[in-house]
Amino acid sequence: MGKKKLYIQTFGCQMNVQDAQKMAVLLEESGYGTTDDPEQADLILVNTCSIREKAAQKIYSQLGRFRELKERNPRLLIGVGGCLAQQWGDRFFRRVPYLDLVVGTHQIHRLPEMVGELERAGGRIVETGFCDRVGSLDIPAQPAAGAVSTFVTIMQGCNNFCAYCVVPHLRGREQSRPLPEILREIETLTAQGIREVTLLGQNVNSYGQTLPGETDFTQLISAIGKVPGIGRIRFTTSHPKDLSPRLIACFGEIASLCEHIHLPVQSGSDRVLRRMNRGYTAEAYREKVAELRRVCPEISITSDVIVGFPGEEEEDFQQTLELMREIRFDNLFSFHYSEREGTAAVGMDRPVCEGVKRERLRALQALQAAHTLEKNRACVGRWESVLVEGQNRNGCEEMTGRTRGNRIVHFPGRTGLIGKTVSVRIGEAFAHSLRGEVEERGGADVH
Ligand code: 5AD
Ligand code: SF4
Repeated sequence: MGKKKLYIQTFGCQMNVQDAQKMAVLLEESGYGTTDDPEQADLILVNTCSIREKAAQKIYSQLGRFRELKERNPRLLIGVGGCLAQQWGDRFFRRVPYLDLVVGTHQIHRLPEMVGELERAGGRIVETGFCDRVGSLDIPAQPAAGAVSTFVTIMQGCNNFCAYCVVPHLRGREQSRPLPEILREIETLTAQGIREVTLLGQNVNSYGQTLPGETDFTQLISAIGKVPGIGRIRFTTSHPKDLSPRLIACFGEIASLCEHIHLPVQSGSDRVLRRMNRGYTAEAYREKVAELRRVCPEISITSDVIVGFPGEEEEDFQQTLELMREIRFDNLFSFHYSEREGTAAVGMDRPVCEGVKRERLRALQALQAAHTLEKNRACVGRWESVLVEGQNRNGCEEMTGRTRGNRIVHFPGRTGLIGKTVSVRIGEAFAHSLRGEVEERGGADVH
């Protein structure tokens, strides 16, 4: 008999993608190989996201599409994992009657056992308990074949309790992975051709606080900086209140640490930041940015903003735009506030109406589009160090890669360059990418 087939669909953040890869690794031992075609699957897992309402809505419509497959093949198993599974627990069964399995964020390591039980005895299983130590934290995720860059989970959970955010409620408290485990995983990844790692956690600056001894995030970056074969290190996400002078100094000291930081500001108004429980002022944020730019003038800075948090007046919103005009983010992810069950912001006074949120988001995104283009145009004429990731999906003659500042670059080139770092002279700038020509002597590794 051939291998049983697993189809996994992920929604939401990179942590979910990592978890999905871990699920695939775990279920391989139960005899499952992955497939891209849900019609071929014996087991379908949907890794859900609950960060914003829109993400949650998409999941129900997706599950609806699998209903027909279940009707045709009653032996098909369908499960949900991720944050929405954690939040809804057995309520999911009521809403999706053909669902077999609900796996919470701390129960992934038990998937083989749960799937085995369903195969043997049928029925329905829901497991959403929290554990002191997340069993799946140390399971290495398996990047896609041929990948050059990948994410490595270094911690998960969050202790910050920003008023709008479900993460601390659904992923639990912060937990860090021991440093030697992370190094071992990265060494294995280099042997598979990985040249760039992005260290992943909800608040990477807190790395080490749950470990015995004195390990901190800067020690981890320094240690990874010494792993042969890893030319580039990135991390996401960091919290402005915990961005220490030591971590800022790393941008001037560690050669493989890329000149890019994703530093979510959320709002430019102190009044809103206070209500969000962010723990810093707009001025403190500006100072951190100034310090980052002093240590590393070419650093690219990206951020997240929420518009329409309860109590956000026009004046507060204008302060956010003002902060954007001053800082000029290289890129910005913006969202309109959506209320999430169980968070402190539920029922806060002075909610902002949907029309106003929409209009603010539109104005903010128009401003950012102009800034992103301005920043991209400033790259024209420069030589950029580009890690070649693969062929450009839009044009078969072109290769694609990223600058150290995390900009996508397309250039004419051959597939033999994949995994190499080349020097590209930027000729054109677009809204979401750059185009250039690789150096004549191209192919030599540079940093
Ligand atoms: N509503 C809107 N945006 C949110 N984010 C987190 N929670 C919410 C919410 N309830 C945004 C924040 C965060 C990003 C990952 O998602 O900007 O940084
Ligand atoms: Fe959510 Fe705030 Fe924690 Fe980020 S730092 S995961 S926004 S609670």
